[in-house]
Amino acid sequence: MGGPVVLGIESSCDETGAGIVRDGELLAHVVASSMDEHARFGGVVPEIAARAHLQSFNPVVREALGRAGLRPGRIDAVAVTTGPGLSGALQVGLAGAKSLAYAAGVPLYGVHHLAGHVAADTLEHGPLPSPCVVLIVSGGHTSLLLVRDLVREPILHLGDTLDDAAGECFDKVARILGLPYPGGPAIDRAARDGDPRAVDFPRPLTRGGDAPYAFSFSGLKTAAARWVEKHRLRGVEVPVADGAAALQEAVADVLSRKALAACEAYGVRTLVVVGGVAANSRVRALTEQRCAAAGVGLRVPPTTLCTDNGAMIAAVGDLLVRSGAEPAPLDVSIDPSAPL
Ligand code: KG4
Ligand code: ZN
Repeated sequence: MGGPVVLGIESSCDETGAGIVRDGELLAHVVASSMDEHARFGGVVPEIAARAHLQSFNPVVREALGRAGLRPGRIDAVAVTTGPGLSGALQVGLAGAKSLAYAAGVPLYGVHHLAGHVAADTLEHGPLPSPCVVLIVSGGHTSLLLVRDLVREPILHLGDTLDDAAGECFDKVARILGLPYPGGPAIDRAARDGDPRAVDFPRPLTRGGDAPYAFSFSGLKTAAARWVEKHRLRGVEVPVADGAAALQEAVADVLSRKALAACEAYGVRTLVVVGGVAANSRVRALTEQRCAAAGVGLRVPPTTLCTDNGAMIAAVGDLLVRSGAEPAPLDVSIDPSAPL
């Protein structure tokens, strides 16, 4: 029997996700992505993303229910991303979630997208230890957080990117290198054949000072563009694999260094790395190596739960329901730039 069955809906960017969680356990989740439709534009086109959500919403929810072996009437609560994200995309998901909650007569919970990314890890590794440092690295965010209780206590924001997110940096540099969109996975693949020491890309904001947990990645993009230009001016072929490997090394170095500095400063024994960039092989390997050296436990959810999905939203919903949190009113709106 178990506890309440929570359906989670995610639609903040280009993935339509539906996930079903009960008592911290993932029963099923399904993701439909409109990524391929954006590829020829080199980035997510909000209008196309919103339309794709409209097409995918019902099939994705139906498929998730089917995989979990549940009738729609078995859902006890609906959780949905209310922000941050693209407004048209968020609106489609919220409208759909409201309809489901209203029709089923069950409570609706609004979920912060980043809280969802953090909670994704609980579906694989169980409840988060308190406190833990969380590094969120996605296409839209690069943040270091100190989390004590995801739904009961305020999350302490240690630092953010001052400009581009790490995933955005991968995507932009991939474009400069002539690699396909999305750039992160393309750089990861290309880097396998490259030498990470071939280019000495900068490590922004790592020289101490007053921003120990802030990030800046736009300079890396400029450095990569200059490096490519230098080859073109000389009329020589750009060693793309080397560029990819060196960029990946620089990003992994900065991310893992700052995350571990935060663990040390706050006396935290567990680091959780979530978000699309947590799928990067070098980010994973270097962070693992440094955590082991520092005696810090590392938790990284599996790749399918790292990128946007409905399961992570259901995971937060499940925590909210079980903590007795107040549901959202049915006139709740989206908050595209929601602060944490
Ligand atoms: O979390 P996510 O799916 O969506 C956002 O909320 O942004 O993250 C997407 C980002 C993209 O920038 C993508 O290029 C990056 O994650 N990404 C990767 C890898 N897989 C996805 N970056 C580096 N290496 C990867 N293997
Ligand atoms: Zn995300």
